Amino acid sequence: MPKSPDYFAGKTILITGAASGIGRAAALVFAREKANVVCVDIDEARVEKTAEKINEIGSQALALTIDVTKRAAVEDMVQLAIDGFGGVQFLFNSAGAAIRRAKFLEIDDDLLDKTFDLNVKGTFYTMQAVLPHMLSNKFGVIVNMGSMAHRRGGPGSSVHYAAAKGAVVTMTMGVAREFATQGIRALSISPGPVKTPFQAAASSSPDLVQRFLEDVPMKRFAEPEEIAELVLFMCSDACQFMTADTVYVNGGGGWR
Ligand SMILES: NC(=O)c1ccc[n+]([C@@H]2O[C@H](COP(=O)([O-])OP(=O)(O)OC[C@H]3O[C@@H](n4cnc5c(N)ncnc54)[C@H](O)[C@@H]3O)[C@@H](O)[C@H]2O)c1
Repeated sequence: MPKSPDYFAGKTILITGAASGIGRAAALVFAREKANVVCVDIDEARVEKTAEKINEIGSQALALTIDVTKRAAVEDMVQLAIDGFGGVQFLFNSAGAAIRRAKFLEIDDDLLDKTFDLNVKGTFYTMQAVLPHMLSNKFGVIVNMGSMAHRRGGPGSSVHYAAAKGAVVTMTMGVAREFATQGIRALSISPGPVKTPFQAAASSSPDLVQRFLEDVPMKRFAEPEEIAELVLFMCSDACQFMTADTVYVNGGGGWR
């Protein structure tokens, strides 16, 4: 929660991956706090649904169908957000995926490229597109999605994904430290398994999902809202000395 009531009222957050899972949950949490929410996703129908829900809560939303792996589209996205709401104070990069599970020796160029394009380049492009605007306002908070996988390396199913999330965590640290005296904070979140369509999107086997579950000391997956509330805290005025690091949210840890 923010330190000042109504801290987020009238401020604007741009959220990628807002059609589903953690991005959608964050969109609704920020709407509850009266922020304007720019909802970005490649899934047009579902990102519009998120925007409708935000309007029902009583906040303003802009739904944009954008592929974050396309630099020009990402630059348009930031301009549309600024045109729509007059500025962007917060960026939450939730768009991401493991694409598909594969043992290390079966990771081909196509899988490696798709994984890095989405998780790494998507995050890189959005940060590069929004930072000039944030720097001109001497204010901005960026939250990126890592994964606990980056800490464990993803053996047996996800080295491509773990490595991409490692790059996200490292880029976040670099951006945070480069702009630390210019009103910018950047943080990443590294969750364990979260109850979203993510596993289905990666065609994770029921056996692998069961192993993830058994490995969490709390014996459950996180709810997407449990990550979304952390995004809110990180962006808030209750969190002004925290930057560069990743925060693990994983019910006590695990092997992935
Ligand atoms: N769910 C988990 O267990 C888990 C664990 C650790 C980290 N994460 C990370 O959390 C983030 C959110 O995942 P989630 O669990 O909400 O998954 P999700 O599948 O529910 O949501 C991901 C969203 O990203 C969108 N997306 C995919 N490609 C895109 C593109 N090119 N351009 C724009 N949008 C695109 C999808 O359409 C989808 O709406 C991801 O970065 C993921 O890697 C998830």
